[in-house]
Amino acid sequence: MGDAHDSSRGRDDKAKGGGWKREEAGEGVARGQPRDASRATHKDGDTDSPVPANMAVPRERRACGAEVTQPEVRPRLRGLGARCRGWRTVSGAMPRAAGLGRAAALGPLLAAHVVAAIEPISVGIALGAASALTGYLSYTDLYCRFAECCREEQRLNASALKLELEEKLFGQHLATEVILKALTGFKNNKNPKKPLTLSLHGWAGTGKNFVSQIVAENLHSKGLKSNFVHLFVSTLHFPHEQHIKLYQDQLQGWIRGNVSACASSVFIFDEMDKLHPGVIDAIKPFLDYYEQVDGVSYRKAIFMFLSNAGGDLITKTALDFWRAGRKREDIQLKDLEPVLSVGVFNNKHSGLWRSGLIDRNLIDYFIPFLPLEYRHVKMCVRAEMRARGSAVDEDIVTRVAEEMTFFPKGEKIYSDKGCKTVQSRLDFH
Ligand SMILES: Nc1ncnc2c1ncn2[C@@H]1O[C@H](COP(=O)(O)OP(=O)(O)OP(=O)(O)O)[C@@H](O)[C@H]1O
Ligand SMILES: [Mg+2]
Repeated sequence: MGDAHDSSRGRDDKAKGGGWKREEAGEGVARGQPRDASRATHKDGDTDSPVPANMAVPRERRACGAEVTQPEVRPRLRGLGARCRGWRTVSGAMPRAAGLGRAAALGPLLAAHVVAAIEPISVGIALGAASALTGYLSYTDLYCRFAECCREEQRLNASALKLELEEKLFGQHLATEVILKALTGFKNNKNPKKPLTLSLHGWAGTGKNFVSQIVAENLHSKGLKSNFVHLFVSTLHFPHEQHIKLYQDQLQGWIRGNVSACASSVFIFDEMDKLHPGVIDAIKPFLDYYEQVDGVSYRKAIFMFLSNAGGDLITKTALDFWRAGRKREDIQLKDLEPVLSVGVFNNKHSGLWRSGLIDRNLIDYFIPFLPLEYRHVKMCVRAEMRARGSAVDEDIVTRVAEEMTFFPKGEKIYSDKGCKTVQSRLDFH
């Protein structure tokens, strides 16, 4: 492909830029871990399993099951509109103040339960009285102000997302447009026929993780820290080729458990290009057009796959436009999407090599991230300065941008690392 770099270079660069990657990966571990990782039982209780404990037992599943601390109260709460996922939070991460409120609110309900054992007819009256006394019916709302609740029906604030993408994401007109359309359409549809699957492709440092973070925050306010957003990093969670079968089983269990607990869960698979071929096909049934799989509906979940695979194809198209004197913004999705899906399908190092996900058209959108130019790097430097609360100094902006390396050799149009090292370089100025 002429002077354009191949995607393996992007991978090498990522490996070299390990500080950032490790930091993110570490975050993934912490977030992915069950509330009580020590209780996570691997197959046969094998604590020496190479698989991270967080992959062993879906946390919501456990919390919705036997570990609920007040099981006798649970049916009553369900009757009042609380659901299993509510219980996960009630028995889990409730802040102290809310916990006191809960104790006060649950007192009459517990009393009602005791009454039920003595004289069942009184239960309705007792519950009604308890609700009236404690204002329980608004309790869930109140509770969700303090702790995180899964609000499946919550609509997407499309204009806020649009504004955020337009303001913060530089040089990615295709990604901005497709993500906005895909999410708005999906979230406005009360009965989606399948979960939304987005496959993000592009050169290093072009904004794939950055966008996934923005999307996560717009779907669940705690973003990547939300209990309903799950980040998998291939090299961290699925490192060993010899354990593919185990990873597949655990991935299925993990996703099933989390979607059971929150239908609008978001799953982000980072470094897809480093995922062993076949692992991802384990979740194919969940991404298909089934109403339910084993009693669980996956139709409101969102899956995002992030990858450098196809970055070379995207760069080639961008370069062709540039060389033909055409504007970058004239590149359309139809110029790239078909090339991407075929390229990724045929690429052994894409994580989607010969994948049934592509074969069966289960990926809804292949989203290209274009390589970033000098002017975009400058925009990233300015954004970083503002984020640090500093005044924008154009001399520094130029110096940082000029320290970056650009390709192809002759024209030097695209930044080798996108905006990835801007933050660390800015520290020197
Ligand atoms: N298009 C962009 N617009 C604004 N900022 C960007 C963009 N691309 C990258 N950045 C900045 O650079 C940082 C690193 O980018 P990000 O992690 O999203 O790259 P990536 O595409 O995931 O790269 P890689 O393929 O190497 O993982 C982001 O946190 C963000 O600050
Ligand atoms: Mg990334």
